[in-house]
Amino acid sequence: MTRLLHNPAAAEILGLALTSPVVVGSGLLTDQERNIRRLLAAGAGAVVTKTIHPNPAPSGSERLLHLPTGMINSTTYSRRGIDQWCAMLRRFAADRLPVIASLHADSPAELAELAAAVADTGCRALELGISCMNEDGGLTDTAERVAAYTGAVRSVTTLPFSVKLAAGERVRERVDAAVAAGADAITLSDTIAGLAVDPKTGRVLLGGTFGYSGPGIKPLVLAEIYELRRSGVQVPLMGSGGVQSAPDVAEYLSVGADAVQVYTALHRNMHDSLAGIREGFDDWLRDHGGTVAALVGRSLPKGEA
Ligand SMILES: Cc1cc2nc3c(=O)[nH]c(=O)nc-3n(C[C@H](O)[C@H](O)[C@H](O)COP(=O)(O)O)c2cc1C
Repeated sequence: MTRLLHNPAAAEILGLALTSPVVVGSGLLTDQERNIRRLLAAGAGAVVTKTIHPNPAPSGSERLLHLPTGMINSTTYSRRGIDQWCAMLRRFAADRLPVIASLHADSPAELAELAAAVADTGCRALELGISCMNEDGGLTDTAERVAAYTGAVRSVTTLPFSVKLAAGERVRERVDAAVAAGADAITLSDTIAGLAVDPKTGRVLLGGTFGYSGPGIKPLVLAEIYELRRSGVQVPLMGSGGVQSAPDVAEYLSVGADAVQVYTALHRNMHDSLAGIREGFDDWLRDHGGTVAALVGRSLPKGEA
């Protein structure tokens, strides 16, 4: 604890005291115990698991397309069973590791049941990965839908949880719905709709519209977090979208995020990239003589952080 108090990079989210605000976001890389442990050893403040789902789609059509500005992916949920995940989460809990379990299900009642089972493992925090746009038919997210999933989980557990939303239309209404239904934090953003075309043939690559991530979405997410804070939203926020370097982390904190997730950048040199961002941000703080607490919200007009 004393070490944390003297650590300028110390941050807090979902009741977890983090040694760094740099958190690894949910995705293919966080589907394995070995990767999660190695990412924590490489300096992650916390790691969010791949989204655990009671009825994941059968494997087959999951693909990644690399673009100059990021990536489009057609993946959905972890194919590991709930029992396997619960056993893994028990081992993380026994080691007091800052692992956040990402959860989704086909209905609010089913998500509540899953959240109750995961809470029993000793897991310390959850993220509701309810806004994945790669589901069949895409995602039409509404405040009502967000409230239903959030409220169902709140009714079964006191465990802190974040609701992960996608940047886009009516984000303020969706954030307000999550907070009113009991969310302890918001993660913004999941991937957003993206499409790529072969210019020679006109063929739509990957066969449709899927989740776009990486540096291309960073300005959009920064703008939404900035506007949410400017319009008075107070709930703790984790920024997620296009973080590749220490200055990106500083930008997210400056517009009012309390912690920052990084994912797509880790598809190249996973541990080294994470260590580079984490250590780079520690160095950045040292060079600029600041703390995470002092950075959060500094871009906002006074009184709006
Ligand atoms: C291949 C891939 C798989 C992902 N899987 C999940 C997932 O299972 N659950 C989830 O909440 N987000 C998932 N995401 C979204 C990321 O966690 C992150 O929110 C998003 O990609 C934006 O951040 P980034 O630009 O740093 O990647 C995935 C992203 C990618 C690229």
